[in-house]
Amino acid sequence: FLSQIPYAQPDPIFELTAEYNRDGSTKKVNLGQGAYRDENGMPWVLKSVIQAKRAIEGSGHEYLPILGLEDFRKGCTKLLFGEESPIVLENRVGSSQSISGTGSLHLVAIFLANYYSTTHKVFIPDPTWNNHRAIFEGAGFDVQLYSYFDSHHMALYFERLQEDLLRCPEGSIVVLHACAHNPTGIDPSFEQWKKIGKIVKDKHLFPIFDAAYLGFNSGSIDTDCWAIRYFFHDLNLTGAVCMSFSKNMGLYGERVGCVQIITNTFDEAKNVESILSKLQRSEVSNPPAYGARLATAIFSSKEYMQQWKIDLRTMSCRINTMRKLLVDNLRKHNAPGSWVHVIDQNGMFGFLGLTETEVKDLRLDHHIYMAANSRISIAGLNEANVEYVAQCITSVVSK
Ligand code: LMR
Repeated sequence: FLSQIPYAQPDPIFELTAEYNRDGSTKKVNLGQGAYRDENGMPWVLKSVIQAKRAIEGSGHEYLPILGLEDFRKGCTKLLFGEESPIVLENRVGSSQSISGTGSLHLVAIFLANYYSTTHKVFIPDPTWNNHRAIFEGAGFDVQLYSYFDSHHMALYFERLQEDLLRCPEGSIVVLHACAHNPTGIDPSFEQWKKIGKIVKDKHLFPIFDAAYLGFNSGSIDTDCWAIRYFFHDLNLTGAVCMSFSKNMGLYGERVGCVQIITNTFDEAKNVESILSKLQRSEVSNPPAYGARLATAIFSSKEYMQQWKIDLRTMSCRINTMRKLLVDNLRKHNAPGSWVHVIDQNGMFGFLGLTETEVKDLRLDHHIYMAANSRISIAGLNEANVEYVAQCITSVVSK
């Protein structure tokens, strides 16, 4: 049978990083993969993480429990909902540590496939992070798109989004980006979230929040959790939150994440957790320890938490500054268009609205790497390269 195995195309984002690494040009700029870079273009270890590393020295290499570190899971729930939340006080969350955001989504996908049935469709935004489709199709679901982006106005296509969600069969599963929508950087306003929440409630949809960028919009986890809290507190909905600490703690390679399934009662949560444990055991047995220990050390210390909040602001402020500087430079070089959409976008990414050919020209002629849909990781910009990038964008769009 091996002779029948087809060749699967490499993942476009990881392939782009590999291509960038192979490029020998001194001018090259990596705006591809969503990974924070400091003002010198270097990976950044958060100060709070450096403190946590010292604190967990000597913690050894024993197995974690199947569901991961309990203090980490509980810390994640409190981070999402706050200590005084009825969800926390009534223990209405079944949780499991996971292999970052992807592992978290995958665990929820197999949980739903086994216990909710793949006859339910999964709706993901158009566009979305390319792994969403792969994860849910891989678990056996029929995956459909709901409208999200109006490419004509470079804005949220809210009317169409509402119409599409209203057309979903009752009980469908809907994937939402908690904040910092990847790839567009466009999030619903609070008023729009309220309308989405009403549809989710009325149609008994099962919401899954992909929460990979908490803290990247506003620099504050509390503010960026707004939609999650609204759905689960104010509307009292059940659903899932898939958390990743890759970006907001910079723990990319440590694979730190957490699944939170919000239920109606403590008993439901206990049962859900028993199933997560059963599924996790046959997938990865038990999750990796190091990154979760770091995150737990941060959650458990007031001092480290304070530093983490400062670190989040450091990252989100630098990204915002670069976002503005890019647009200033595009305008300075008279790049056709207003580029106001880039200023209005949130989070780690900018969605430029270039054609695939323009993106290719930037890569081949100017050594500037970005996703084919013209999503840029703003953190790849710095004082030294932003003008070069703006000049090159101007040159390809003026052709
Ligand atoms: C991205 O979208 O660039 C990141 O989330 C990295 C990834 O895994 O795709």
